[in-house]
Amino acid sequence: MPDGVVGEVVTTEVVGDVALVCIDNPPVNASGHAVRVGLVGAIEALNAEAGVKAIAIWCAGRTFMAGADIREFGKPSKEPVLPEVYNILEASEIPVVAVMHGTALGGGFELGLAAHARVAIAGSKVGLPEVLIGLLPGAGGTQRLPRLAGVDFALDMSLSGRQVSVEEAQAAGAIDRVVEGNPRDVALSMAQEVVAGTLPTRRTSEISIEIDHTALDGIRAATQKKSPHLVNPLKCIDAIAAADQPIAEGLKVERQCFLDCMETPQRAGLIHAFFGERAVSNIPEAKGETRDIQSVGVIGGGTMGSGIATACLLAGLPVTLVEVAQEGLDRGVATITKNLEGAVSRGKMSEAKKEAALASLSPALELDALADVDLVIEAVFEDMGVKREIFGKLDAICKPDAVLASNTSYLDVNEIAESTSRPGDVLGLHFFSPAHVMRLLEIVQGKQTAPDVLATGFALAKRLRKVGVLAQVCDGFIGNRILAHYALCSGYLVLDGASPAQVDAALEGFGFAMGPHKVGDLAGLDIGWMTRKRKAATRDPAERYAGQIPDRICENGWFGRKTGKGYYLYEGGAPVPNPEVATIIDEVRAEQGITPKSFTDDEIVERYMTAMISEAARVVEDGTAKRPLDVDMVFLFGYGFPRFRGGPLHYADTLGAAELVARIERYAEEDPHYWQVPDILHRMAADGTSFADLNKG
Ligand code: 3HC
Repeated sequence: MPDGVVGEVVTTEVVGDVALVCIDNPPVNASGHAVRVGLVGAIEALNAEAGVKAIAIWCAGRTFMAGADIREFGKPSKEPVLPEVYNILEASEIPVVAVMHGTALGGGFELGLAAHARVAIAGSKVGLPEVLIGLLPGAGGTQRLPRLAGVDFALDMSLSGRQVSVEEAQAAGAIDRVVEGNPRDVALSMAQEVVAGTLPTRRTSEISIEIDHTALDGIRAATQKKSPHLVNPLKCIDAIAAADQPIAEGLKVERQCFLDCMETPQRAGLIHAFFGERAVSNIPEAKGETRDIQSVGVIGGGTMGSGIATACLLAGLPVTLVEVAQEGLDRGVATITKNLEGAVSRGKMSEAKKEAALASLSPALELDALADVDLVIEAVFEDMGVKREIFGKLDAICKPDAVLASNTSYLDVNEIAESTSRPGDVLGLHFFSPAHVMRLLEIVQGKQTAPDVLATGFALAKRLRKVGVLAQVCDGFIGNRILAHYALCSGYLVLDGASPAQVDAALEGFGFAMGPHKVGDLAGLDIGWMTRKRKAATRDPAERYAGQIPDRICENGWFGRKTGKGYYLYEGGAPVPNPEVATIIDEVRAEQGITPKSFTDDEIVERYMTAMISEAARVVEDGTAKRPLDVDMVFLFGYGFPRFRGGPLHYADTLGAAELVARIERYAEEDPHYWQVPDILHRMAADGTSFADLNKG
């Protein structure tokens, strides 16, 4: 077999006394079944070939193998599995050199570790990102990386999942040589160097190391503290701890740890998040013609406007910031400057780039300054009258084809669009605070939004490195509409007997970084208060009001962290429950004749999550969100939903529609107005379908 095709995606090429093995499996050369079969076939065939003295493996396309094919996970595994393939590779009598380019990740980097020498093209990266998808390096990485580069480096790479420059990896001993060139040419010259003896080779498994197990215990404790809900980081440490055993034993431990992780719902949740993040923009609305955005105008220098302006500046877009008064404008510029300085101190941008970004910020006091910008984002307070007036003026000022966006978080984008003579140019771009940090961007489609304007919204999200999710117009769009519903449930839990701190602790136990009362204190309780007042006139009289307690807290001027007092007291050190809130709660319960009952933490989580899921189901049912996964991504990237649970509707599938219907019907015996089974859940329970089925379309 001098030159040949091994299976569908692996080819061999013999050049003199060396052989090149090429993997060509677009888009990222993931090591799916065909690659595994092809690699084994190639190694075995070349070992049987007289005259071949060295083998170099390289990949075609934009990157070396980016790891195992994640789409195969959760399905029955097909032989040969990746660790076996790499054992065969390492056992090859003919020395094998791996030539990595692009991003050699997970099983890709592990191929390199199993080879007899590792070469990387300058500027490429290597990484072990399995930890981010609920797994651990399961193709020898936990055994071979410590042998090559030491336990500390292996722990760092495999617990952080970070991509490491090949220069750093070389310094640590994980890569033998970093060279310039294209992968195929480098593969040829490196194989020839192996034959010439100028590129030394060895079997990684023959290196033996010692491990300080006491130190590992410390790392276990720190890891558990950092990620209290996750199973896989600890399993990863267990596997690395076995790297001082003979490799066959260590690989057995690694395999078991890997399979244990594979079985967890966390792995499924994290992989759903991985694909969901990519699928949200994989829709016709996000594709096609876009308008060219080279400059942005932001109206409003408050927290939101300044955050949006910062996000645009960070992406290299010049911004004109408009405020009505000099004082507000100065405050906006000061906030943006502070945000950018924060980016510099976090290593996100250089001092020179910060200066360039500030130089491209043009503060202005008149909307006329927006005459030439390509995109305007209005971020003033939530008042339809004010917004209509601004959009009416923009209509007269802005150049034709400028995209006119509102950052409204609740209001009717169609009504805003109607205040212009060009409703096709108008859409909602709903950012989340702090807008230069939070990755979610709801892209709200008005009735008349032009297709290229909508696609421009998605292009902007990509440019700002945000996750753009399509939403239709309704009060609160996807996220805030669902939030309004489950926030009521949280209010009822406190009204009926739970304490705010208990609700928070229960939900933090479920995986939220902060419970809803802590979030309220952080965001400012006055925001919800204003919303309740705004909606008071239109409130459904049949709905139990859950706002008395937070209303009364706000009437005292306690708005949370910014006033030092809210549900909690902020007096330096850890926040403690505010005892005066407990008194308010007692008073309100007494006034309403409520005898408090006790809830277990599980009951709290159950009710809260069921409330969230039922409104999320309605949002999918009425088309506000295109698919369940869109709701999931809104919650993962905008609402601190625990990523390992995949999102509310992925989590709902783990419960099943029948269980959710049963829960809602049980709660409805107490409050039939609030607890109503969405039709979609009835249908899903009857026909046994899941939200995952709806994602498939
Ligand atoms: N398996 C299957 N599909 C993959 C994949 C993988 N490992 N990695 C990426 N893809 C797909 C993406 O879903 C996307 O598909 P789409 O076009 O249909 O949406 C396509 O490849 C391109 O990916 P991106 O859009 O993410 O492209 P980027 O250029 O932005 O990023 C990347 C490329 C850095 C490779 C990024 O995709 C990535 O980080 N991939 C995941 C890498 C990973 O987690 N590897 C470990 C896998 S687990 C493993 O190896 C286990 C082993 O230890 C046994």
